[in-house]
Amino acid sequence: MCGIVGYIGLPEKTSQHGALDVLLEGLRRLEYRGYDSAGVATVSSGTVSMRKKSGKLANLLAEIEAEPLVPASVGIGHTRWATHGAPNDQNAHPHLADDGKLAVIHNGIIENFAQLKAKLLATGEVFASETDTEVAAKLIGQHFTATGDLTEAMRQAANQLEGAFTLLAVHADQPDRVVASRRNSPLVVGLGEGENFLGSDVSGFIDFTREAVELEQDQVVTITAEKVEIIDFDGTPAEGKRFSVNWDAAAAEKGGYGTFMEKEIHDQPKAVEDTLLGRTDASGRLVLDELRIDPEELKNISKIIVLACGTSAYAGMVAKYAIEHWVRVPVEVELSHEFRYRDPIIDDSTLIVSLSQSGETMDTLMAVRYAKEQGARTLAICNTNGSTIPRESDAVLYTHAGPEIAVASTKAFLAQITASYLLGLYMAQLRGKLFQGEIEDILADLHKIPGKIQEVLDGGEQIRKLAREMAQAPSVLFLGRHVGYPVAMEGALKLKEIAYIHAEGFAAGELKHGPIALIDQGQPVFVVVPSPHGRDSLHAKVVSNIQEVRARGAKTITVAEAGDADVVDYSEQVFYVPETQPLLMPLLTTVPLQIFACALAAEKGYDVDQPRNLAKSVTVE
Ligand code: F6R
Repeated sequence: MCGIVGYIGLPEKTSQHGALDVLLEGLRRLEYRGYDSAGVATVSSGTVSMRKKSGKLANLLAEIEAEPLVPASVGIGHTRWATHGAPNDQNAHPHLADDGKLAVIHNGIIENFAQLKAKLLATGEVFASETDTEVAAKLIGQHFTATGDLTEAMRQAANQLEGAFTLLAVHADQPDRVVASRRNSPLVVGLGEGENFLGSDVSGFIDFTREAVELEQDQVVTITAEKVEIIDFDGTPAEGKRFSVNWDAAAAEKGGYGTFMEKEIHDQPKAVEDTLLGRTDASGRLVLDELRIDPEELKNISKIIVLACGTSAYAGMVAKYAIEHWVRVPVEVELSHEFRYRDPIIDDSTLIVSLSQSGETMDTLMAVRYAKEQGARTLAICNTNGSTIPRESDAVLYTHAGPEIAVASTKAFLAQITASYLLGLYMAQLRGKLFQGEIEDILADLHKIPGKIQEVLDGGEQIRKLAREMAQAPSVLFLGRHVGYPVAMEGALKLKEIAYIHAEGFAAGELKHGPIALIDQGQPVFVVVPSPHGRDSLHAKVVSNIQEVRARGAKTITVAEAGDADVVDYSEQVFYVPETQPLLMPLLTTVPLQIFACALAAEKGYDVDQPRNLAKSVTVE
């Protein structure tokens, strides 16, 4: 979950930028991955210099200003999400070894660190932190003493480590290189001219290059100013896969909004539009050749299991409603971290669809690997090109939401739902489950969604006003049915994670089985109301649910389809969204709930983009 960046350039590059500029810019962009502490180490004149500080990157910047570093053209930088050891200065990365000549940073968890530490202590090593990283640093240091070569030292150390790690190291005695290794944790190489980069993802170096190289599992990479060399953990030379990043630094900026989350909520029309783009041919048929899976196989799938966590799992629930309805194939949705511990029934006719914005969520990655081992086919719906989950899956359907920086997911959620609809319609097309005309009608309605999201965004002030009025609410409940149920849960999650308010999402039908006891005078309850044109009686049932909670004193706030007059008498406020097909409603009804949470958190003065205790990419189990 930490962010890592590495840089090396020819000395003449320093007229454009030094290592420190590159590292700090990279850390600024990667800070969403963790912000418990930040640190950098650079090498110049045969010495490693280090600055590190607990708290956000701003604290490190102040530290560097107070005690500047000498100019350098090689270095590494880290922003931490704490796992082993408290988030204090001592545990901040980098960690030093070999008498201060070696600096190491790490993302991941080294599972056998306790055993290794005991052995290292027995050899007389002294530890300055409680981290597992320092164990890796000491190991690399010992191997460097024995071999005099940082690449070989890294390779030997990596072979002793278990768990998940991306490690980056620089050594004062080999100042012409940065060496890294990876297992189960992300790492990409950025290619420049007379300079090269390393990053947890491409945003770590997007200001300097858009040419990048993907690494495979269990590899060591050595970058010098002019070369990139990759080897497997057994020492065999390997080739990385080159790719170009199709977004630029401006896409990762706030674009005039106060927070990334606000900007990303407003990016949603484009996120949906771009995800739909180029996926139909001239005759209106869906073409998903990019999936890399034989259409015949998709025809023969007998069951789909959707695996995901958090917000992505709610997108998965929406996918279930749509795919089962259109394709008539059973779909189960399961939290990735529960999946492989319950002996699930999987065979080669099972299709695993993983949903992950980052493509690095360890719980989902492990669940996908497990399913593959059991013989299932795996398809990733993912927003991050070159990330691990799509790379390890048989098939991939990318969402095109662009970089999502705010920790709370918004535009990736809508893009995941959109991609799931495309997958469902594609399978329905392949299996002849819908007439071509029906598919075209749904696609036509999907293409109208971006404009409709824009309408909701344009009416956002009504929601922001309510959020400001409700800033002191101690608890908010969310109800929904059918596809409104995952939307209700997503509304509650957004409020919990960024506004730190107790919030729960329930299936409205479940109320009478217990949760209704929570309703007291003034309890705010959001209700996501299904379309009056939807399934028989569903709308009427939800209107009854609104009346039930209202009769018990709830302050009811409804999100309903434009023109729905039935909810007015029972709602303190109604937020209308434009009309669309019932199954497509989540693409619209989610938006007011996102705006509400974002405005309420801002009203409370919280850091909307980097909420406490969370990180964007959860690369630990
Ligand atoms: C909530 C949120 C998380 C993620 C979850 C999975 O706003 O962002 O719940 O959805 O951690 O992350 P990905 O989609 O990257 O696998």
